[in-house]
Amino acid sequence: MTTNSEGQSMGTKCRVCDGRVVEFVDLGDQPTANGFLLPHEVEGEFRFRLAVGACEDCTMVQLMEEVPQELRYHAGYRYQASGSAGHRKHFRTDAEWFLANELTGPDPFIVEIGCNDGVMLSTIAEAGIRHLGVEPSGNVADLARAKGVQVLSAFFDADTAAAVRGAHGAADVIFGANTICHIAHVESLFRGIDALLSDNGIFVFEEPYLATIIEGMAFDQIYDEHVFYFSAGSVRAMAERFGFELVHAEHIDMHGGEVRYTIARPGARTPSASLDALLAEEEAGKLSEPLTFARFGRNVERIRDDLVGLLTHLRDQGKTVVGYGAPGKSSTVTTYCGITTDLIPFVVDSTPGKQGHLLPGSHLPVRPPSAFSDAYPDYAVLFAWNHAEEIMAKEEKFRAAGGKWIRFVPEVEVL
Ligand code: SAM
Ligand code: TMP
Ligand code: ZN
Repeated sequence: MTTNSEGQSMGTKCRVCDGRVVEFVDLGDQPTANGFLLPHEVEGEFRFRLAVGACEDCTMVQLMEEVPQELRYHAGYRYQASGSAGHRKHFRTDAEWFLANELTGPDPFIVEIGCNDGVMLSTIAEAGIRHLGVEPSGNVADLARAKGVQVLSAFFDADTAAAVRGAHGAADVIFGANTICHIAHVESLFRGIDALLSDNGIFVFEEPYLATIIEGMAFDQIYDEHVFYFSAGSVRAMAERFGFELVHAEHIDMHGGEVRYTIARPGARTPSASLDALLAEEEAGKLSEPLTFARFGRNVERIRDDLVGLLTHLRDQGKTVVGYGAPGKSSTVTTYCGITTDLIPFVVDSTPGKQGHLLPGSHLPVRPPSAFSDAYPDYAVLFAWNHAEEIMAKEEKFRAAGGKWIRFVPEVEVL
């Protein structure tokens, strides 16, 4: 990255095409979003500048600075994919689709990059189909193994892929969910796909969608793990650059709005109509234009001011407020807004490994959901807003008792 005499970023090199990346939002010094802490670990907490820009050439939106992958994924990685009923159902459906449509040959083989706790591959394992998860975070890899899933503890890259190919042969499907945008070494990733994918195989990945973030104001999706913020346009350019073809893209209802991309070898599959429709939608909406990015930057500041204003007003009125859910996203928003325990004394989360810890950056304590239901607060900030339906249904007594939910995406709202 180059900086001017004031130390401001003047751009960084695009990880996909070497073009110039122009910064459009800076969310300040931030921790790793899943780096939950014990009180004695607060001092010396890791921080980096969380800023995002877009490539002038291929349009890929990406972090200006990145955190080494070993600091992000390790045996203490807190995210467990099976944490919500919605996710378990979604990935079972994905697995069933692969089983019915792509894993139908004599001895099919599927590889998942970032299989986490086995939420998708456990259905494949139950069906007795050859599979391999490639997962560097040892704790979640062990959870997958306990479900009968075969897991290789490694980061997926060109070398890992060559080793998998040598040991198991070509893969009919390579899958990744909420993982491919985490991989900064894209050139090595695609060399690995090339080494491992069968001639007619598909590489399918589901990732946060740029339009959800930019138009839907899901700015809390920006954190250290999300190195890239994909659109159909930028993924198409990336696939072409590395010798593949984007053949399909469709919206899926995950994490507030994602897109599932399918990549194949050039000419191997017929491109779908929904891909053309999505590309046209992005063009018409001027998704990757500088004015759109500038407007996003201003809206992020407005949401911060509105949220802090509302929380300050409620505190001054003597109202009680807690946070609901401690996803990676909550670290971005609480740290960026400078939210401290005088505004939100604690957040609750159902993940045992997060409870008893402090939220990265803002250091709000994380407690079990019983801390919420045992004594309802007046207001609850829905940090896990992408699970709104599931959480509100589960906690309907909160509403019945007069409690109110606060959302901040796409704007601050009391429900
Ligand atoms: N696939 C699950 C889902 O969609 O819920 C888990 C997503 S989790 C946010 C990202 C996972 O990718 C983590 O378990 C992490 O350890 C793994 N990961 C990160 N970099 C990776 C890499 N280079 N190769 C394989 N897995 C990786
Ligand atoms: P995610 O959006 O990245 O899946 O994270 C959601 C977080 O919210 C995760 O830490 C689990 C938590 N959660 C609850 O605490 N209660 C719930 O009912 C649900 C659905 C999620
Ligand atoms: Zn580029």
